[in-house]
Amino acid sequence: MAEEKKIKTIGVLTSGGDAPGMNAAIRAVVRRAFSKGLTVVGIKKGYAGLLQEDFYEMHPRDVSDIISRGGTILATARCLEFHDPEVQKQAADICKKHGIDGIVVIGGDGSFRGAQALASHGINTIGVPGTIDLDIACTDYTIGFDTAVNTAMDAIDKVRDTSTSHERCSIIEVMGRHAGHIAMWCGIANGAEDILIPEKYDYVENKIINHIKENKARGKKHHIIINAEGIGESQSMARRIEAETGMETRATILGHMQRGGSPTCKDRVYASTMGAKAVDLLCEGKSNRVIAHKHGDFIDYDINEALQMKKGVDEYMYEIYRSFSI
Ligand code: ADP
Ligand code: F6P
Repeated sequence: MAEEKKIKTIGVLTSGGDAPGMNAAIRAVVRRAFSKGLTVVGIKKGYAGLLQEDFYEMHPRDVSDIISRGGTILATARCLEFHDPEVQKQAADICKKHGIDGIVVIGGDGSFRGAQALASHGINTIGVPGTIDLDIACTDYTIGFDTAVNTAMDAIDKVRDTSTSHERCSIIEVMGRHAGHIAMWCGIANGAEDILIPEKYDYVENKIINHIKENKARGKKHHIIINAEGIGESQSMARRIEAETGMETRATILGHMQRGGSPTCKDRVYASTMGAKAVDLLCEGKSNRVIAHKHGDFIDYDINEALQMKKGVDEYMYEIYRSFSI
């Protein structure tokens, strides 16, 4: 219990791409901290707001009615100057000036590197994984992925309807800067004929073309290709496929609609649990940790170790999709 008195004021910020469920995590931080007698400072626009001292004290009523809302009430930013070690030191000094003993950083790997830097200057930091991409190696869950794949799945179902009516091929591009998790989950959920992900795609377009021709011969009425943003080029791919197969082909890029919307139950509950756990860890005197969900448990790792970890797509999931795609 003596440890619990160490931390008096904590900051909370969201950084990098927003993700549905970030608001649930912010709410959990504020209310868990309040229940432990801590003061919470909301930091606007990620590390950019930290440098501009864009702060406000957050009370439990400030987070009313946000659990069901997408986006982040704290706003977010990509702040390139935070890569500079001198700027990181300035940020830590700003925290000290405002009496901020600890910070909860909700974001992805890049944001955790910023948290790591603050920790090295004596500010206790806890990372909470928030990104629709699911590309944080230490965790099986990231805030926003569940909502994003459900949003994309609904959209792809709609494209599928019109593809079937017109007997077309549709290439649907989903988000995922370097990672194919969204594409693979949607590919399975939507029964796609082909899934193109950066981790596996060999850029041999002829294989897709032959697959379309074979399926046409088998009497298939459409051909759905889920293409990850990391591969991109969906429009030009559509033109080439149409020319080679004779099947009318359209490309749809789902884009930022995948990042918005009301979070699913899973995103609300997991984000709430992670936000609360971040506060608990700070109260235990922990720093430079990141929260993860692994094999069904909420746990934490040292940020340095977490950032060294590697994660690919699930090999078994990739294999089964290929066996369904016949
Ligand atoms: P994400 O957190 O989703 O991975 P980014 O990679 O865009 O998103 O990172 C978000 C922000 O985190 C950056 O704009 C920057 O402010 C900070 N950041 C990223 N990489 C570093 C780094 N190597 N050192 C310090 N801060 C970083
Ligand atoms: O990291 C989440 C993500 O949505 C990626 O899937 C995508 O590549 C990127 O952010 C887009 O970033 P921005 O909103 O800055 O264009």
